[in-house]
Amino acid sequence: ASPGGGLGPEAEADPALLRASSPELARRLRGLALVRGGFVSEGEAAELLREVEPGLRRGRYQRDHWDRAITGYRETERGLRGGAGRALLLRVTPAFPARRPPRPSAHVLDLLPGGRVGPHVDSVKFCGCTIAGVSLLSPSVLRLQSLRDPQDWLELLLEPGSLYVLRGAARYEFTHEILPDEQSFFGGLRVPRGRRVALIFRNDPPGENPQPPRDPPGTV
Ligand code: OGA
Ligand code: MN
Repeated sequence: ASPGGGLGPEAEADPALLRASSPELARRLRGLALVRGGFVSEGEAAELLREVEPGLRRGRYQRDHWDRAITGYRETERGLRGGAGRALLLRVTPAFPARRPPRPSAHVLDLLPGGRVGPHVDSVKFCGCTIAGVSLLSPSVLRLQSLRDPQDWLELLLEPGSLYVLRGAARYEFTHEILPDEQSFFGGLRVPRGRRVALIFRNDPPGENPQPPRDPPGTV
């Protein structure tokens, strides 16, 4: 893995973009909850939006969802066939274990300014050990809270163009949520919510369709 720029469990979150309820918790989730600003450039972001908008426009904004406490959203699951989408899939793949790469289709979630994703843990039936999300358009705050010790929390500031990665304990032992506008603060910093589009990558749960290990980069 490349030092500093890597996305594996050794990677460091950008400290300006992460707040923790305690230094101990920050240490415990080091490498497991990761945030990286400027992961995609403004040009790439514009291209990605052009590629996913037609798929999003086919759906209507929904008020809520049967399984997640989510409001004011529309979503689609789509293969990334455009150049920017394919390039992004390749760039997030190092965040995943080699034998558990991301599924080739991304979950595209379009949240209205008044929308929220309430606290939840992604289904262990449909989602494996790693979740990686790229945020476009509006900044937002991703909040993690321990299922066992609710006083333990983490906040990630998701700026447009940023990447976050949740894995291991951060994925299984904490809920995550996108704060609604009226609660959208990163510490004392108000983070006003506009429309936000997220491209979320997940892998398969263990036990089904294990992938053969990938060839190392540079292999022909
Ligand atoms: C989800 C989710 C977070 C995000 O859809 O399961 O947690 O970044 N979304 O929008
Ligand atoms: Mn989720």
